[in-house]
Amino acid sequence: MSKENDLTVKVYEKKASVYLKTTIEHDNLDLEKAKRKRKKLNDFIKINMELLPKNSKVLEIGSADGVNAAYIKELGYNITASDIANDFLNEIKNKGLNPIKFNILEDEITEKYSAIFAWRVFVHFTKDDIVKVFEKVHDALENDGIFVFNMMNREIKKVDNEWVDFPNEYQMGAERFYQYFSENEINELINKKEFKIYSFHKEGGENNNKWLVYVLKKK
Ligand SMILES: C[S@@+](CC[C@H](N)C(=O)[O-])C[C@H]1O[C@@H](n2cnc3c(N)ncnc32)[C@H](O)[C@@H]1O
Repeated sequence: MSKENDLTVKVYEKKASVYLKTTIEHDNLDLEKAKRKRKKLNDFIKINMELLPKNSKVLEIGSADGVNAAYIKELGYNITASDIANDFLNEIKNKGLNPIKFNILEDEITEKYSAIFAWRVFVHFTKDDIVKVFEKVHDALENDGIFVFNMMNREIKKVDNEWVDFPNEYQMGAERFYQYFSENEINELINKKEFKIYSFHKEGGENNNKWLVYVLKKK
């Protein structure tokens, strides 16, 4: 586990409740926009979960408020929500789920899953961290299992990485580590680990170019 992720995890452990509060306050500023964003993500989740038989086992890494995990459960899948911060775990329990405390860089994945989902999580991981994640996820997926995640796009940034407390929905009152990735870097990892790209697109930000969004299939 990198020093960068370790320090960022410590921020979440201490300030998860601030994150939860800020997210709600931000959504309330423009409820229609928040609804549109939610629907777009739900549609994306649904299309990809439907690649799997109902009741398939799905692991979400870094579930935070548990909204994605609750939706995956509602769709009829056997979701395991997870996070590293106790306040997040309590919030997820309030949504009727039974989450596990799980750090993808420190803990073993002890079961096999048909899908592993991580939304806006790997922004806090160094390139070496991501290599480890790809290995673990590949080992933990069933054959033909899918790995669904996004990364922040290096293309629109001035630096490879930085410590920031973004002044918006992500604001927490403490800086966290952000790593930005190019498509080439991700493609190299994908080719090394016997994944194939099932789908890829860019989305978000002013030019719809903020996030690199991947659905990989284990070969
Ligand atoms: C920006 S939040 C995104 C939360 C949620 N997935 C979403 O899209 O709303 C980043 C999440 O990554 C989690 N996280 C950071 N490092 C982690 C690690 N090493 N293992 C597991 N989760 C981690 C944080 O606790 C936090 O929930």
